[in-house]
Amino acid sequence: MTDQTVLVLGASRGLGFALAEEWLGRGWNVIATARGSSDELNALAKRNPGKLEIENVDINDADGVRALRDGLDGRRLDVLFINAGIARAIKASPATASERDFLDMMLTNAFSPVRAAEILRDLVPAGGTIAIMTSELGSIANANGGWQLYSSSKAALNMLMKGYAAKNAGDGHTLLLVAPGWVRTDMGGSDAALSIEESIPLVVNMIGANRGTPGLRYVDRFNQRLPW
Ligand SMILES: NC(=O)c1ccc[n+]([C@@H]2O[C@H](COP(=O)([O-])OP(=O)(O)OC[C@H]3O[C@@H](n4cnc5c(N)ncnc54)[C@H](OP(=O)(O)O)[C@@H]3O)[C@@H](O)[C@H]2O)c1
Repeated sequence: MTDQTVLVLGASRGLGFALAEEWLGRGWNVIATARGSSDELNALAKRNPGKLEIENVDINDADGVRALRDGLDGRRLDVLFINAGIARAIKASPATASERDFLDMMLTNAFSPVRAAEILRDLVPAGGTIAIMTSELGSIANANGGWQLYSSSKAALNMLMKGYAAKNAGDGHTLLLVAPGWVRTDMGGSDAALSIEESIPLVVNMIGANRGTPGLRYVDRFNQRLPW
């Protein structure tokens, strides 16, 4: 499996960084993106000579994502993992939130990831996988009002991927909306239930378990389907 390549979009820290590190540990070639310089990623590249490439892109910059695509022309991505995301105004409702915070989450968490999938998808061969980090909180069926605005942006991501999957049916891609659990990162906070080590290796196992089974699934780290 050492000739396998994964591109992780949004890997400067947190879960994205851990995904890059986990796949490197399994012998994969990793292309990891950050918005700016990441000391953590630079150190990881030094520890994994020739296995980790670092690219700079902001997922909200369509031209930047297209430039990334052009720079990777002719490359094969076995897995494209779009991880970038933000959480703002987590205790707010529409009456109390700033509109800007809500719009930023809808752009970064919903619109931009699916646009990136569209721009980068032809680097993924039939049989390959496109995964996007959503959340358990993106489930409308299970919603309980927590992180209401963030949850809405992840539900919008899920809906946009439903449309993407319908439009690109038959391309042989496995499409995964990934719920990693509540994890202790800058976003998840120190009260979160899981360490990164309790989530990310299972996420990578789950991606492998879905390999070669085309179609869209909304799944947790145990490969259990979540209700939309
Ligand atoms: N932690 C949890 O409990 C949890 C649970 C469910 C889902 N998730 C999802 O998992 C993903 C990662 O979360 P995390 O907990 O690792 O959060 P985090 O520690 O806050 O890290 C967020 C990552 O996304 C990147 N990012 C944000 N906006 C970006 C943009 N416009 N372009 C490119 N990269 C951008 C950040 O880059 P910078 O360093 O440049 O800011 C950083 O690498 C997110 O999609 C999040 O919604 C997290």
